[in-house]
Amino acid sequence: MSVAKRDSENRKVTTHRLIEMKRRGEKISMLTAYDYSMAKLIDQAGMDVILVGDSASNVMAGNVTTLPITLDQMIYHGKSVMKAVKRALVVVDLPFGAYQGNSKEAISSAIRVMKETHADCIKVEGGSEIQESVVRILSAGIPVMGHLGLTPQSINKFGTYTVRAREEAEAEKLVNDARLLEELGCFAIVIEKVPAKLAARIASELKIPVIGIGAGNGVDGQVLVMHDMLGITEDFSPRFLRRYANLKEVITKAVQRYVEDVKRQDFPNESEQY
Ligand code: KIV
Repeated sequence: MSVAKRDSENRKVTTHRLIEMKRRGEKISMLTAYDYSMAKLIDQAGMDVILVGDSASNVMAGNVTTLPITLDQMIYHGKSVMKAVKRALVVVDLPFGAYQGNSKEAISSAIRVMKETHADCIKVEGGSEIQESVVRILSAGIPVMGHLGLTPQSINKFGTYTVRAREEAEAEKLVNDARLLEELGCFAIVIEKVPAKLAARIASELKIPVIGIGAGNGVDGQVLVMHDMLGITEDFSPRFLRRYANLKEVITKAVQRYVEDVKRQDFPNESEQY
């Protein structure tokens, strides 16, 4: 069994360090966070990258898709996370409608995120369609992470959450978009829910890190949504999801015990009052 290579230093993770990690074969760990308390725990646990994902729309706000979340709401989450994080690289998603189709709006959205949250960089979904926005954001010195494959902001175009790029034409576009994002200057790309072989091929071709979610083990790192991997959400069970805890059960039992203790006047007891 090979021993995982790991940078033991506790210094701040930068976009440059992620590229170094890829070079020396160290896999990159990435997880979402949306609030101060969880971001603090996740950072202290040694996460390389924290994504303030627009999945906040689902797991924090209860929306069915990521589309409704606004730039102001993403900035609120970004600010909360940034107050907690000391080591991880923090990426904030630009939400749907904040960068597509209008590069002027894209740059102003990205600048607002950087100025108001103090995050390290932003993430955007799409390839050639958003080329102009990516170039403009990069030209302001803002590092950009790309996101290809099953891009949730395009769910209404896809019409399904099924695996993307199984067909030749879509696979070819994915490869070309990944090459394009690297050429434009993105420092990393997330690839979501595509065949493992295709993702591995892209990761081996690109010099920048390719971080997968449902994209197999041949990529340079993995990302999951925190609520899914901690077992808080229960109605989302794709094949790629490994649950590392069952917090739904832990939280439910703790809350039930508290309710019972209040009802039977067991809480607070003598030592818990003044
Ligand atoms: O918003 C998010 O959580 C994401 C991940 C699924 C990569 O973009």
